[in-house]
Amino acid sequence: MDATLVLRRGRLVDGSVVDIAIAQNQIVAIDTDLPIEAATELDIEGRLVSSPFVESHIHLDSALTAGEPRWNESGTLFEGIDIWRERKASLTIKDVKQRAISALKQQASYGVLFVRSHADVSEPGLIALKGLLAVREAVKDWITLQVVAFPQDGLYGAPQNESLMEEALRLGADVVGGIPHYELTREDGVRSVHKIFELAQQYDRLIDVHCDEIDDPQSRFLEVMAGECIRSGLSSDVTASHTTAFGSYDDAYALKLMGVLKRARLNFIANPLINITLQGRTDTYPKRRGVTRVKELWQSGLNVSLGHDCIRDPWYSLGTGNLLAVAEMAVHVCQMTGQAEVDACFDMVTAGGAKTLNLGEGYGVEVGRPANLVVLDAKDRYEAILNRATVRTVISRGKVLVETVPPVVRWSGEDKG
Ligand code: FE2
Repeated sequence: MDATLVLRRGRLVDGSVVDIAIAQNQIVAIDTDLPIEAATELDIEGRLVSSPFVESHIHLDSALTAGEPRWNESGTLFEGIDIWRERKASLTIKDVKQRAISALKQQASYGVLFVRSHADVSEPGLIALKGLLAVREAVKDWITLQVVAFPQDGLYGAPQNESLMEEALRLGADVVGGIPHYELTREDGVRSVHKIFELAQQYDRLIDVHCDEIDDPQSRFLEVMAGECIRSGLSSDVTASHTTAFGSYDDAYALKLMGVLKRARLNFIANPLINITLQGRTDTYPKRRGVTRVKELWQSGLNVSLGHDCIRDPWYSLGTGNLLAVAEMAVHVCQMTGQAEVDACFDMVTAGGAKTLNLGEGYGVEVGRPANLVVLDAKDRYEAILNRATVRTVISRGKVLVETVPPVVRWSGEDKG
């Protein structure tokens, strides 16, 4: 068997230590002591070899604009939307492309090779969408990008918004987005969810809705999405993002809702970095964490992934694009400190994200799958999150894309013992 690249002594997430042979852009063999030689061999020395990280929720169109034209002083979602409305008036395709590719390179250096980005389709020129569709094409040889047509100002927030959404789907957006809790009325919110499912079926696209991203316990569009899933038969194609109000529902309603969600089997995305800072802003004390019920969704067997959401934009002025930071925040905010729970948080930024993006057999460390892998400076998932481990090697499409040397700590002076 011919191979172009062999990784020796890599530790998989199940703890087994194996060699991995790659030919061109495919994994062709995984076993202990593979009798295969290749022009390039990398000795992993027992470090963790994982499938790449999956960024299931980000806004690349607004990435790297923090402070433009002004800082979000209140720190609220709504001031963020106002600032973005000012900033997007000067948006150009070149501007979107430059910032998006810069953010993607930053994420790829942290081992992210699959990304779902929302593109605001509330402005008449559809500049954000056109820019991100151009980026999807420009980067496809090293990173996979899905683009969501996201009506930031509401599908019914202005007369032209519904037709802009349809135009975005005709131009090639992969996913239909929405924001029912931001529509002008509750009825508009419900109507928008019905319309999103209708459009997804008409254009054969996935669904990913910003759903109930608010502390209001009366914001209950998740049940509308779940009902649509049950009636339409769609489930794995559908994702509810944020659902932070689920953290504010009383337990009686939450219990009833969880039963419906288990029937609907849609995917969930939590964005703990952003929602721990955006939500709870109208509370004095006690102050809500503003994150959905990640642990309970996971315990119910539903697919949960974690997204970065924003990198230095009007909603979140921090962020490096490293999904291990997101997983680490989830461990804290969602109180997932048990051993299996920490591992689950790692899985939510890898396999869980892949399921949300519907990557199917295009993802995973298995023979016959595309050769996309990361090597971490850690021996297992716990150590990866504990140390926010350096991603030493990123292999994309069978080739080394990025290498990073971990920092070395040297003590000097006399004996500290
Ligand atoms: Fe978002």
